[in-house]
Amino acid sequence: MVSRFVFNETSYFGWGSREVLIDEIKNRNFKKALLVTDDVLLKVGIANKVINLLDDAQFEYELFSDVKPNPTISNVKKGLRICKKYHCDYIIAVGGGSVIDTAKAIGIVMTNPDFKDIKSLVGVTPTKNESLPVIALPTTHGTAAECTINYIITNEDDKVKMVCVDKHSIPTLAIIDSELMSSMPSSVAAETGMDALTHAMESYITKNHNDMSDIFALRAIGIIYNNLERAVNKEKKSIEQMALAQYLAGMAFSNVGLGIVHSMAHQLGALYDTPHGLANALLLPYVLEWNGAVCSDRFIDMGIAMGLDMKGLKNFDAVKKVTQAVRNLAIRLDMPEHISKIGGKEEDIPTLAQKAFNDPCTVGNPREATLSDFEDLFRTAF
Ligand SMILES: NC(=O)c1ccc[n+]([C@@H]2O[C@H](COP(=O)([O-])OP(=O)(O)OC[C@H]3O[C@@H](n4cnc5c(N)ncnc54)[C@H](O)[C@@H]3O)[C@@H](O)[C@H]2O)c1
Ligand SMILES: [Fe+2]
Repeated sequence: MVSRFVFNETSYFGWGSREVLIDEIKNRNFKKALLVTDDVLLKVGIANKVINLLDDAQFEYELFSDVKPNPTISNVKKGLRICKKYHCDYIIAVGGGSVIDTAKAIGIVMTNPDFKDIKSLVGVTPTKNESLPVIALPTTHGTAAECTINYIITNEDDKVKMVCVDKHSIPTLAIIDSELMSSMPSSVAAETGMDALTHAMESYITKNHNDMSDIFALRAIGIIYNNLERAVNKEKKSIEQMALAQYLAGMAFSNVGLGIVHSMAHQLGALYDTPHGLANALLLPYVLEWNGAVCSDRFIDMGIAMGLDMKGLKNFDAVKKVTQAVRNLAIRLDMPEHISKIGGKEEDIPTLAQKAFNDPCTVGNPREATLSDFEDLFRTAF
């Protein structure tokens, strides 16, 4: 059995670690950056923490901030035009998954212009060339887009989130400066943390897991379960722990894939613009319980990693204990429990189910899911 692992070339961690950016740019002889961020991050002064470093060093950059949460093909096309017009030779992304994914798509099309329609990036993209170099500085502790080989762009015409998988898209350099995450509003901190927990759990139980991904996933599950609430309450040590754990979860799922929590969450994002982490937080307990029927032994490991007392628990009892702990965590974090609470409509269930069935994450799920299973799961979550 052959396992492939793709990691960043270099990553830095730690509160304030963005300071390394200037030497890294100098040493790599980069000339002009496309700096991708979003308007909220400009407004709250987080993007400026990086922009000020570039200004002080008198490095050239062109700013692009027209990126919405659940970024769209139009966002990518606009950034691409600016990148070309100003002859940028590398990209700096300062933001959450939406910003970093947009930067990744721009970087890929810059060096693989055959995909300039953007729609053709969907799936496993057969690009020939490495992306324009991307330096990613995440500002949320959720997606780990700074270390994954995929990016997600919403096709606004077809109302579908395109999952694009391409090892050429992994950022060259990741700077995980937890200080940049400390300004997240509590709702964003909670949602993105639940996204990271979903990554860790789905990659621990996926069909494709292996010994190396298990190490990353289990450690991430333990750290996230025991630190997320404190991170939401702005405890510095826990924010630092979350920054690390979301990256560990990213290394796991980027290399072995996810499951149907993500297949289903993508559809809520595409149809109702639900924040990605919130969609996962809502769906995770329902799907965990359903998947537990085929992999209860893995739930014992996850429970132990979370610090739960799993002594004597077997099969469905183990599944129930872990699922209940995750559900309680989501409730304590004020995550909604029902799709009806986020504007979902029951008549959309057939469409949601069909699109989730077709989502690339479905193949990695530990339990085979038919179209009618998706309909049932969506109906239960309504
Ligand atoms: N590439 C991947 O591997 C991967 C994995 C999972 C999800 N995703 C995608 O990533 C996107 C979601 O990214 P996200 O969950 O990181 O959220 P996001 O990037 O959409 O950000 C959510 C909101 O929080 C704001 N924000 C971000 N950081 C902040 C900070 N430090 N202070 C104040 N406000 C801040 C943003 O401006 C935005 O308004 C979705 O499109 C999802 O599908 C990608
Ligand atoms: Fe995710």
